[in-house]
Amino acid sequence: MLVLPKGVRHIPGHLDRPEQQALVEDIRAVVREAPLYRPEMPRSGKPLSVRMTNCGDLGWVADKTGYRYQDRHPVTGSPWPSMPDRLINLWEELTGYTAPPQACLVNFYNTSARMGLHQDRDETDLAAPVLSVSLGDACLFRIGGTERGQPTRSFRLESGDIVILGGESRLAFHGVDRIYPTTSTLLKDGGRINLTLRRVTA
Ligand code: SIN
Ligand code: FE2
Repeated sequence: MLVLPKGVRHIPGHLDRPEQQALVEDIRAVVREAPLYRPEMPRSGKPLSVRMTNCGDLGWVADKTGYRYQDRHPVTGSPWPSMPDRLINLWEELTGYTAPPQACLVNFYNTSARMGLHQDRDETDLAAPVLSVSLGDACLFRIGGTERGQPTRSFRLESGDIVILGGESRLAFHGVDRIYPTTSTLLKDGGRINLTLRRVTA
């Protein structure tokens, strides 16, 4: 039995294979318009191992000056592509939150990418949950409490899984320890896509 920190919801296999494929097609269209780029860590300027882009009215970006939401792609200068209906519907179905998501961060992990423990706290609307979708290769996801240093546990996220951080877990520390190569055939060149849907403004 896996006991997760309070308020963390994990829905294994929520999306079936055709739904996952349709979502990958939606994301391919987003990436054609708003190419993946490699963000830099604030201050150090060190590149992240994950490549990113966004869709929706706002997108989360990181560069030497900090983390923030903005309405344009930092490299092309164009507005982000609109949020696919499929994602808006998923948000409505699973969160029941009254307002639609404003940002969808698209993270692409190659087999050596990872993401350190962090909180999602650049949003002013903390009443809204963060909904995350996993596609492609499995990963080892780590989650802890709302303060750094609290115990963490890790579990595998597979293609089609959903995680929702809301309520007591909205500010839970989380990250990705590793990707398990060749565990999915969804993406033809392998790797993992993670989509996180957020409300940004209250
Ligand atoms: C994130 O925290 O932005 C990504 C989490 C994940 O890749 O599952
Ligand atoms: Fe996050």
